[in-house]
Order: sequence, then structure tokens, then C-alpha cells
Amino acid sequence: MVLLNLIAIYSMLCIVTKIAIAQPVPYEFNLNINNNFNLNFELQPDGLIDHPENPKDPSHGEPSHGGDDDDYDDPTLPRAYKKNPKLFNLHKEMIHIESISGQEYEMSYYLINYLRKEGLNIELIPTPDGRNNIYAWYGDSKSTKVLLTTHFDTVPPFFEYRAARDEEDRIYGRGANDDKGSIAAQLIAAEELLKAGEIGKNDVSFLFVVSEEVGGIGMRSADAYLKEHGVNWTTVIYGEPTENKLAVGHKGIYYFDLGVTGIASHSGYPELGIDANAALVDIMYDLNHYKWPSDKLLGETTINIGLFEGDYGVQV
Ligand SMILES: *[C@@H]1O[C@H](CO)[C@@H](O)[C@H](O)[C@H]1NC(C)=O
Repeated sequence: MVLLNLIAIYSMLCIVTKIAIAQPVPYEFNLNINNNFNLNFELQPDGLIDHPENPKDPSHGEPSHGGDDDDYDDPTLPRAYKKNPKLFNLHKEMIHIESISGQEYEMSYYLINYLRKEGLNIELIPTPDGRNNIYAWYGDSKSTKVLLTTHFDTVPPFFEYRAARDEEDRIYGRGANDDKGSIAAQLIAAEELLKAGEIGKNDVSFLFVVSEEVGGIGMRSADAYLKEHGVNWTTVIYGEPTENKLAVGHKGIYYFDLGVTGIASHSGYPELGIDANAALVDIMYDLNHYKWPSDKLLGETTINIGLFEGDYGVQV
């Protein structure tokens, strides 16, 4: 009998460990990954930037909707629009801009000009691969009591803004929730609180990062840069979909592949082989029944066996 190597690959077994503090994870990125974002902004004296492909664009990325009364009956907008035209305009304009991870250029352009027009100071914090995170603050100090932060990349595919105008008055579109909804809410809330005199100029700053959906290099580079420059806050609020609840912790995640090599033999002669699949079943049983650590705040560790592969044939 021919003995074959049986390789059972048990991959993407992922253990979700609930930990309150994110651990730094080593990461890699490929500098040649995608060159279309490798452009550097140069701020001009007026603080605005020109569009690289359309330097004469007079709008400087300004929202095309001004928030006129006429818009209230526009069926392409949600009914809630009239409650806060500026908020819904900003939200709509941002969703309209495709900003899939790695291709955030248009969105940075839009945001930079929006922030400058609102009178904020900004600093661009580059990633090693030439994209730009945006740090913005109102007053004379970059360190503030509160940092409002989130990301402006999205997962693919892009799909356009659409207001359903149904009972729930929902807005659809890539990033409507994750995370352009957060950007709009953070910016408009701070602006309104400031105007109402409820907060001061040095109370709040913003950090908007690239590449949250892929690799997290935006936040990593911003974190290193701001630390190095002694910028600090008492509270940081990160905008992510959390079912409208304030979340104070976040699960970490650990992925791994597990492989077992056995010896193939005919099922009639099991003594000639070593069953890799059987070994994996035992290992998976142990993983599933292991007492993983739990956390007071976040509860039990969960484990997910995502993909299981291993075969030569039913009788092997
Ligand atoms: C926080 O920022 C303020 C203002 O820039 C600075 O004076 C202070 O030293 C910083 N504190 C820390 C712990 O870095």
C-alpha cells in the first residue's frame, strides 16, 4: 500500500479574546501596495488645498448643498433633514465620496477643506505609505479635554447615498453608519456646543484616520506621532457603530491556523495510518471546552472555528 502524507489544515481558527486594553500587534504593510494614494497635500496660505486633478475647482471640496429651505421637500433627502440641514448635508456629501481603504484621498481633501472653513487648525499626520490622517483643533492647544476620533475609510464596495423616506427614515450608502455618521455627528455636535457656549475652544479636538478597515496603520501612525509630540486628552471618544450605546471596552482578537500532518491509509487498514482529522477533532474539542479567561466588563472569551479542511477521500 502506498502511504501518503495526509495534511489536514485547520485554518482561520479564531479565538476572540475579550480584553479591555488593546495589545499592540505587529503588523506589516507593503509600500508598493497601491500608488494612487501616494500624494502629499500641501497646505496653502489660506489653509485650503487644491484638488490634485482639478486645481481650479473653486469649491475646495465645499458641500454642494447649502442647506436651503428648498431642500426640505427633496425626496432624495431623509425627512429628518429639516431638523439639522448642516448635519445631513455633511453626512450626505461624505457618503457621496468613495473612500475605500487605500483610496481615501478625495475624502481627506473634502475633510481638510471643511475643517479649515469651519475655522479649525489642522495638522496632517502621514502614514508611512503616504496617506494622511487629519488632526484638528479649535483653540491654541492641541491637547484638549476631549478627543473625538474615528476613521474615514470604508470597506468595499462603494454604494451611493439613498434616503429611504420609509417609516424609519433610514439613510443608506457606504459609510452612512461606519463611520461617516460618526464624523458628521462629532463635528456638528462640537460646533453646536461651542456656539452655545457649553464648551470652550480648548475642550475638544478631532482625529480622523485612514485605514481602520485594513491593518489600522492610520491610527498606529497617528498614535505614535501625537504621543511623540506630547498631545494628550482626559477622555477619548471613538465613533463606531455600537447600537447607540456608549461602550467603554473593546474585545481583542487573535487568529491562527493550525495544521496536523498524519499518514494516509485505507480505512480497512487503520493500523497503517495516522488520522490527522481525528487528531484535529480532539484538538477542536479541547479548544471549545477550554476555560478561556473572562473579563468583568466584557464577559467570556468566545472562540470561532472558521474553516476546516482535510481529506483524501471517504475511505482514506
Ligand atoms: C499634555 O499637554 C499639555 C499641553 O500641551 C502639556 O503641557 C503637558 O505636558 C502634556 N502632558 C503630558 C503628560 O504629556
